[in-house]
Amino acid sequence: MGVKLLLVVAVSLVSFLSLGNSSSSVSYDKNSFIVNGQRKILISGSIHYPRSTPQMWPGLIQKAKEGGLGVIQTYVFWNGHEPHQGKYHFEDRYDIVKFIKLVQQAGLYVHLRIGPYACGEWNFGGFPVWLKFVPGISFRTNNEPFKSAMQNFTTMIVNMMKTESLYASQGGPIILSQIENEYGPVEYEVGEPGRLYARWAAQMALNLDTGVPWVMCKQDDAPDPVINTCNGFYCDYFTPNNASKPKMWTEAWTAWFTEFGAPVPYRPAEDMAYAVAKFIMYGGSFINYYMYHGGTNFGRTSGGPFISTSYDYDAPIDEFGLLRQPKWGHLKDLHRAIKLCEPALVSGDPTITSLGPSQEARVFKSNNGTCAAFLANHDQHSFAKVVFGEMHYHLPPWSISILPDCKNTVYNTARVGAQTVQMTMTPVGEGFSWESYNEEAPSYDENMYTVVGLLEQINTTRDASDYLWYMTEVNINQSEGFLEYGYSPWLTVFSAGHALHVFINGQLVGTSYGSLENPKISFSQGVHLVAGVNQISLLSIAVGLPNVGPHYETWNAGVLGPVSLSGLNEGTRDLTWQKWSYKIGLKGEALNLHSSSGSSLVEWLQGSFVAQRQPLTWYKSTFDAPDGEEALALDMSTMSKGQIWVNGHSIGRHWPANKASATAGCSFCNYAGWFDERKCLGSCGEASQRWYHVPRSWLRPTGNLLVISEEWGGNPFGISLVKREVGKVCAQMYEWQPQLMNWRLQSTGRINRRLRPKLHLSCGSGGKNITSVTFASFGTPEGKCGDFRQGSCHAANSYDVFNKSCVGKNSCTIDVTPEVFGGDPCADVMKKVAVEVVCSNIN
Ligand code: GAL
Repeated sequence: MGVKLLLVVAVSLVSFLSLGNSSSSVSYDKNSFIVNGQRKILISGSIHYPRSTPQMWPGLIQKAKEGGLGVIQTYVFWNGHEPHQGKYHFEDRYDIVKFIKLVQQAGLYVHLRIGPYACGEWNFGGFPVWLKFVPGISFRTNNEPFKSAMQNFTTMIVNMMKTESLYASQGGPIILSQIENEYGPVEYEVGEPGRLYARWAAQMALNLDTGVPWVMCKQDDAPDPVINTCNGFYCDYFTPNNASKPKMWTEAWTAWFTEFGAPVPYRPAEDMAYAVAKFIMYGGSFINYYMYHGGTNFGRTSGGPFISTSYDYDAPIDEFGLLRQPKWGHLKDLHRAIKLCEPALVSGDPTITSLGPSQEARVFKSNNGTCAAFLANHDQHSFAKVVFGEMHYHLPPWSISILPDCKNTVYNTARVGAQTVQMTMTPVGEGFSWESYNEEAPSYDENMYTVVGLLEQINTTRDASDYLWYMTEVNINQSEGFLEYGYSPWLTVFSAGHALHVFINGQLVGTSYGSLENPKISFSQGVHLVAGVNQISLLSIAVGLPNVGPHYETWNAGVLGPVSLSGLNEGTRDLTWQKWSYKIGLKGEALNLHSSSGSSLVEWLQGSFVAQRQPLTWYKSTFDAPDGEEALALDMSTMSKGQIWVNGHSIGRHWPANKASATAGCSFCNYAGWFDERKCLGSCGEASQRWYHVPRSWLRPTGNLLVISEEWGGNPFGISLVKREVGKVCAQMYEWQPQLMNWRLQSTGRINRRLRPKLHLSCGSGGKNITSVTFASFGTPEGKCGDFRQGSCHAANSYDVFNKSCVGKNSCTIDVTPEVFGGDPCADVMKKVAVEVVCSNIN
């Protein structure tokens, strides 16, 4: 016990040292949070620990820190921690204490959103499925069974954090907590019981006495001292419900999630930076990027339904843990500029001056006289020339310039100085050698679980599997007209969702599926039936349980009917109320085919017998881990739908056959103007998700077991293992950025050398160097990365400059001044440099 006590003391001492004052407390007023006695503008980012591996965590946290973040925000995922009632899991990807301690070691703070409702496109919004079956329960309202379960879990998490001394009040990194999540809109619908529940939740949280503030996001009536906060694409308009609370933006959406069947949303860095700069300019003092690293919905953790396995979110750190450039770099530059303004920003209200119809200046002054200014041009279409402090500034449309000394612009949200990196997915290895195992569609058997009528799916499976078989028999009389005249009777199946495969006498005859907006299915098709007994087997598939919506715990899935057969002599026969047999899960799941022990129990077909384009097929192969450290993925483009496992770990659901329908946002996307999740879209007309992340840490050097289940047929020989690596790197920058500098300084040439624009190129940490320069022009180049062109003005030695300074190096820096390029190629013209280089392996 003595040793344990010593250890506890030692651990607290380490946390004490890393975060300063052990009596550190967190307080707030309307201007900002005050942490350890210091006022702070807090820049935070969401990284959800189970959406990456523990081996990835240190790198992600480090990249967040280098990106200028001071806080990491995460939900707590109840269903991951208590998958079965009373049976807890805090290992591996669910080792939340380890995650928080890593954040602490990096010197960052934590915002812990305990919820325990998470939403987050996570299965069932984070609630364990068993919770639905607690007698008398009703989620997220004034319901005793629910409140008691919520209180138990919340208390357990808080106590765990306290035992580990993780609250800032104990010298730990957690400076904030969250109870519930966006309950305000639900409360509005639920009415009085909702209001009572919200007050209860706040009080229950406060009673836990964490010593740090609680927030409730989207909860306008959050009772004091709980802070109500804003979530959205923009939050500058938001005001907290009490003048003593700081203005917080707990979810600044960096883009949006992807659904199977829909295009992939992205959000331009310029607009993201504009939204954040505007929030700070309008008095905000806490901003959290949701997501900063989105990661992967491994296993069956994605919610929805129809949320894709990738939760990339177009976040500054991509799904694979790599920097997304220029977004990461452009936001890093923004954070640096905000930091320079911090003393003035936290000191009180700004002076607001109109600079034009859609232009304004906000000037913040600290008590000791430091001055910081934000100049905004909210016009979506035009540049603005404004006068501020007797100087002139040129502001691009929909942009904000930051002047930490009220004179010099160090940053403009629409001027991206950070490099752009195009990532490539390069096949590695020989290709897979496959074996296959085919499972049959089961048929009606009254010895199975058999009842009259159709059962709701989630009540039946309790989400132990995505799959539920509905099986029945249909007797066809010899005298049926369709047999004689050769037409097909018509089978109609209504399902509450989410996907359905219809098998008649063991043959797949059709497939149908819904979407996130409308998960319901109506299948209607002519089917081939024979005289005598016919087996109808319906494979109903849930693709993630709902995570949001009023009382989503009551939403149904599965074949609820009616099911009917028409075109018979009797007209239409209703099959809904006949006897149906049920089977939960696929045979391969019961056999544990995804594991090495399970897969060795059955006989697999090899060589030319390997099945292709065949439903209900399992594939297996072994492979060696490719050398190097690049992130890996499986290119699944030739497959349809199923699940993937590597060495028994579930990579998630694949569904490349669900193509992204093209919509308006697929064409050109201008950064300027209000953003929403439909504005900027990619992968249109293609698979919503083609690549599936295979974490390096799940691999051994050799003999890795890859198992894939395929529901409706694919070609496994098209699958390849790919590595994600830096391909082209581009950068653009204006000489001396004259449009950003004030004119007087520019004309007198008195710009401090430090402020001169420098262009940086880097191949990152993957062991690559710049091997060639594919475009370089100082002058008036046009186009964008991958598609640059020379303009009418071009310095002849542009290529030479980069060839000399960059080729053969991992990174290089160039001053963007005419002298560097051998003199001015076109005086009196605003010039910039654009460059594109290729990064390749050193050896
Ligand atoms: C928010 C919610 C998050 C997440 C987000 C969309 O409303 O709080 O958990 O679901 O929407 O990605």
